[in-house]
Amino acid sequence: MATTNNQSPTTKPQSKWKVPLLEANLGAEEMEVLKRVIDSKWLSMGEATEEFEHRFASYLGAKYALATSSGTAALHLAYLALGIGPGDEVIVPSLTFVATANAVLYTGAEPIFADITGDNDLNIFPSDIGAKITDKTKAIAVVHYGGYPVRMDEVSKLAEAHHLFLVEDTAHAPGAEFRGKKLGTIGDVGCFSFYANKNLVVGEGGMVVTNDEELAGRVRILRSHGMTTMALQRYRAGKPGYDCLDLGYNYRMDEISAALGLAQLDKLEGDNLRRGKLVAEYRERLAGLPEISLPFDNHYGKSAYHIMPLLLNGFDRNSFIEKLREKEIQTSIHYSPIHLFTYYRQRFGYQEGLLPQTESVAAREVTLPLYPTMGKDKISYIVDAIREFV
Ligand SMILES: Cc1ncc(COP(=O)(O)O)c(C=O)c1O
Repeated sequence: MATTNNQSPTTKPQSKWKVPLLEANLGAEEMEVLKRVIDSKWLSMGEATEEFEHRFASYLGAKYALATSSGTAALHLAYLALGIGPGDEVIVPSLTFVATANAVLYTGAEPIFADITGDNDLNIFPSDIGAKITDKTKAIAVVHYGGYPVRMDEVSKLAEAHHLFLVEDTAHAPGAEFRGKKLGTIGDVGCFSFYANKNLVVGEGGMVVTNDEELAGRVRILRSHGMTTMALQRYRAGKPGYDCLDLGYNYRMDEISAALGLAQLDKLEGDNLRRGKLVAEYRERLAGLPEISLPFDNHYGKSAYHIMPLLLNGFDRNSFIEKLREKEIQTSIHYSPIHLFTYYRQRFGYQEGLLPQTESVAAREVTLPLYPTMGKDKISYIVDAIREFV
């Protein structure tokens, strides 16, 4: 029974913030699809998952989409299916979530970090990718930071010239495009995350997308213990047996997540559009402040506007964040560079100075609230707080 106290699972915890960093766009549509899953009494890898995969692939214009338990699982499966393993190197950015590089380590290969382009383009710098290629390099993994497309024409050329696989970590960018093609479909394989803070949310979930039939087959097998058939196929065919062809994992998606994914996919275009309008509003209202720069001015292609990053020029980030916290505005940082995390420093001996552009941006970046249900009044409130401070 629904109650009004805070212990009730039907009520949201009281927000600590006047403006939180993000808020998922969830409502009656999601309630409706969840009810259908409960009514079906089938909870993992069933018809909702099949439909989500099918609709996600056709939305992107890709041949195959395979749902996974997370974006990290999607990356791990993609690297494994490409045959990446011990002795191989994969070039990745450091200004990203740690999973992009961790998933390379899971395979036994080594992530090699390339710098970003600079203050305006926080994506991996194609020239630095070129500089980091060795005879051990097997793949390049790009991340479309904040939903803004990487210069895929230059990176694709490099990959082709050196016979390297190209992986797109598209966790921030479902629906974004480069030269009319959806991100995640330009390289050999695209990996999406549907984690709770993403543009399309299911809680925990991800997707591997590819046009390569063999690669899709390997991902399918590795996703579920190397098994040749899934419960739904055995149920439909009435044949109980299966074989295990490889050492696979349990990286499957459950039906509740897949159903949420279907409802969220219907909202994605509208939500991305709304995010874009909010970003335009931020840009207009924050223009002309020399203390602040807003990256991705004149960006390439169509963005998914996942986050709203800004860079502080010449004053203290902690005081800035503290000032906004006093006004009950939640902020974040994207990202602490991976190569300077304790684990990576200790394992690989990395030190400051390895990636000058990444380190400079990482020290000055602050992420402002951005979510599709956010009103423009919230932006006025945030901008006033910032103008008061600077
Ligand atoms: C760029 C990037 N790559 C990978 C991931 C991993 O996704 P997940 O949290 O679904 O495992 C995330 C987000 O969480 C991410 O932001």
